[in-house]
Amino acid sequence: MKLFIDTGSVAEVEEIAAWGVLSGATTNPSLLAKEEGEPGESIRRICELVDGPVSGEVVSDDAKSMVAEGRALAGLDERVVVKVPFSSEGLTATRELVSDGIPVNMTLVFSAAQALLTAEAGATYVSCFMGRLDDISIDSEAVVREIVEALGRERHAQVLAASIRHPMHAVIAAKLGCEVSTVPGKVLKAMLSHPLTESGITRFSDDWESRPEFGQWLRGLVEQGAAASR
Ligand code: E4P
Repeated sequence: MKLFIDTGSVAEVEEIAAWGVLSGATTNPSLLAKEEGEPGESIRRICELVDGPVSGEVVSDDAKSMVAEGRALAGLDERVVVKVPFSSEGLTATRELVSDGIPVNMTLVFSAAQALLTAEAGATYVSCFMGRLDDISIDSEAVVREIVEALGRERHAQVLAASIRHPMHAVIAAKLGCEVSTVPGKVLKAMLSHPLTESGITRFSDDWESRPEFGQWLRGLVEQGAAASR
């Protein structure tokens, strides 16, 4: 499963892209509204940083305006994927954008029935919001499982798990066979930590430092390697 970052913050993408784990990004109007600066500039910069698909969302609710906004967003960078909210108008807009060669991420999908329509309209990504389902006591795992099963193994549309609130949402999405999870920076950071990793690093470091000559040996080895590569 690929990991995207779910954010409107260029600084956050800059920090986490350095880990080398991001394949793309998703933004939405709420995330961009929290940030300073022009949204188009942020989307362009995020495209450069992740060097992969970056979703930018339309805000109109009629197909004609969605298509116009989608074309404009796609003009920002070739890596832009147009995010279209699920509705009958959104399906019409998706079909038209796709026939222009513009990839679509259909967002706010909450059921397998909606996912089937989304896939038939030609969307590249079907975004199912796990956290928002759990918020209203609907089992997000069951819904994502049903979407993955309904779209089948040979599916063209990729299932993108969104609204990820904690590391287990991402793990569940991966186990269910989602192609992508879009994860907020805070949750990606939570995915880093484990108390045994932290205590393990401290113990290795303390044991190594108990033998100062070993430190000297390793520094010498590094210097030799650097000299040989010059
Ligand atoms: C997906 O692409 C959305 O941007 C996002 O995951 C929504 O998450 P939220 O429910 O935490 O707002």
